[in-house]
Amino acid sequence: MCGIVGYVGSRPAVPILLQGLVRLEYRGYDSAGVAVTGARGVEVRKLAGRVPALASLLGATPVAGTCGIAHTRWATHGAPTQVNAHPHGDCGGALAVVHNGIIENADVLRPQLERAGHEFAGETDTEVLAHLIEDAPGETLEDRVIAALAHVEGTYGLAVVSAAEPDKIVVARQGSPVLLGIGEHGMFVASDASAVLEHTRSVVYLDDGDIAVLRPEGYHVLDDESHVRVREVADLAWDLEAIELGGHEHFMLKEILEQAETTRGTLRGRLLFDEGTARLNGLNLPRDAAAAVQRIVLLGCGTSWHAALAGREILESLTGIPAYAEYASEFRYRRMAPLPGTLAIAISQSGETADTLEAMRAARAAGCRVLGIVNVVGSTIAREAQGGIYLHAGPEIGVASTKAFTSQVVALALLGLYLGRQRGMPADEGRELVCHLAALPGLVTHALAIEPEVRVLAERYADARNALYMGRGVNFPVALEGALKLKEISYIHAEGYPAAEMKHGPIALIDENMPVFVVAPKDPVYPKVVSNMQEVKARGGRIVAITTEGNGDLRGLVDHQLRVPAVTPLLSPVLTVIPLQLLAYHIAVLRGCDVDKPRNLAKSVTVE
Ligand code: G6P
Repeated sequence: MCGIVGYVGSRPAVPILLQGLVRLEYRGYDSAGVAVTGARGVEVRKLAGRVPALASLLGATPVAGTCGIAHTRWATHGAPTQVNAHPHGDCGGALAVVHNGIIENADVLRPQLERAGHEFAGETDTEVLAHLIEDAPGETLEDRVIAALAHVEGTYGLAVVSAAEPDKIVVARQGSPVLLGIGEHGMFVASDASAVLEHTRSVVYLDDGDIAVLRPEGYHVLDDESHVRVREVADLAWDLEAIELGGHEHFMLKEILEQAETTRGTLRGRLLFDEGTARLNGLNLPRDAAAAVQRIVLLGCGTSWHAALAGREILESLTGIPAYAEYASEFRYRRMAPLPGTLAIAISQSGETADTLEAMRAARAAGCRVLGIVNVVGSTIAREAQGGIYLHAGPEIGVASTKAFTSQVVALALLGLYLGRQRGMPADEGRELVCHLAALPGLVTHALAIEPEVRVLAERYADARNALYMGRGVNFPVALEGALKLKEISYIHAEGYPAAEMKHGPIALIDENMPVFVVAPKDPVYPKVVSNMQEVKARGGRIVAITTEGNGDLRGLVDHQLRVPAVTPLLSPVLTVIPLQLLAYHIAVLRGCDVDKPRNLAKSVTVE
């Protein structure tokens, strides 16, 4: 969840590292630091705070050199303080380490190292690595890193520099993503492609157990016995524009407004109008395997879990196969009954969420076929899944996920269409759904036109202390997602409920100060949701209803009605979520919150 970037080449390292950190800051932002090797050995500058503060520090006390590593942190072990910020050094300051992941046996290793005379500056597990490497045998830095890692349990993506070999970075990966960038004027290492996109599109994704040695003129990859491993060079598909604000005030707003294009990206080339089905080339689910599926388990965290909940409804309805949505973090510790014919689908924007990855591995170990619905190409979940669907939604930088959700729902609908057609859905029905899907990006554009209205409405609710969100069926997950968006970025306490559950508890909370956002598009349960709204109204609650055009006027019942275009009910979450995303965004802006970097959160949660 922290960000790593490193550079060794012919150019001054600091500007490249700082620019890389800016790109990575969305992953973690409570402290930042750099280490550069130069004439004065390894020089470290770090602080508790954000990248602009680090840039000022480097302005006041510059460091020179053409090789360096840098880190932006989201604290797990040890508070976000200057001493706990990365890079971490050994006793003599002759080497420096940046690390993502968790060294699980740090508590065992640390006292051993202290007894051997090592002095620790802070409390992090990473510092243990620096001292281990300091003591490790070997002629080269890579030999010493390999020897040190033999004592380590846990996960890491790490980069090390040493004063003794100033033109070299040694990199290692075990369970935490790392990629190398091959540039014209040097080599890069990063935890995330966005940090290198400015310099190169040629990247090498490291596998677990890989050690890489970077020099200005090139790189090689080794295994833990120093044998050379060959790794494929991949091309990055993302544009630089995709990771820039492009005139928007925040990435979150940019990403909300992009959703017509991003849902189109998910659909591109996948709709077969004549056959009335979907083309999903990467699915790797042969006809006989598809026919053998007897249940579907959808796994995810956060917003991706909400997509899983919507997917549960969509898949079950289109395929007739029983489907379940599970919190990945809970599922990974459950002993799943090894039912034959279970298809597990891991849903993840980043493809790196630790709980989702482990849940996927647990499902595989229990005999499931595993698929991934992932945005980031080359990510761990994408690579470990037996097949899947890429979202092609472009990079999502705002910590609060938006465009990934709508693309996930679209991908799940494509999967439902594909499987459904193989399991008895009539061709006409398939063709109809293909047409609904093809029309969806246009309807998203239409739905986004509500933005000015939502901006005004946000003023009315910006001072709320609590909020309830309600929905039913496939829109119950939208209620959860609306509540999550609000609490994540505006810190207003918000809860999502199935609308009919309200009478079993939450109704006690309703008074004239409680805003209730009800997701009520035209679908078979609409009349029921209207009666749920009447129950709220009878208790003096203030209702904002998200309805569809042509749904009739709810004046007298609700305080405000936000209308999105009508669409076939199973696809409605793609549209009904839009006003709720916008509402959370504008409320957070009005409250002066840091929308793209909400407190305590990180974009990609690579620890348990
Ligand atoms: C974090 C992010 C959320 C995201 C969740 C799952 O909590 O802040 O926005 O929904 O992780 O991430 P994933 O990359 O697996 O979709």
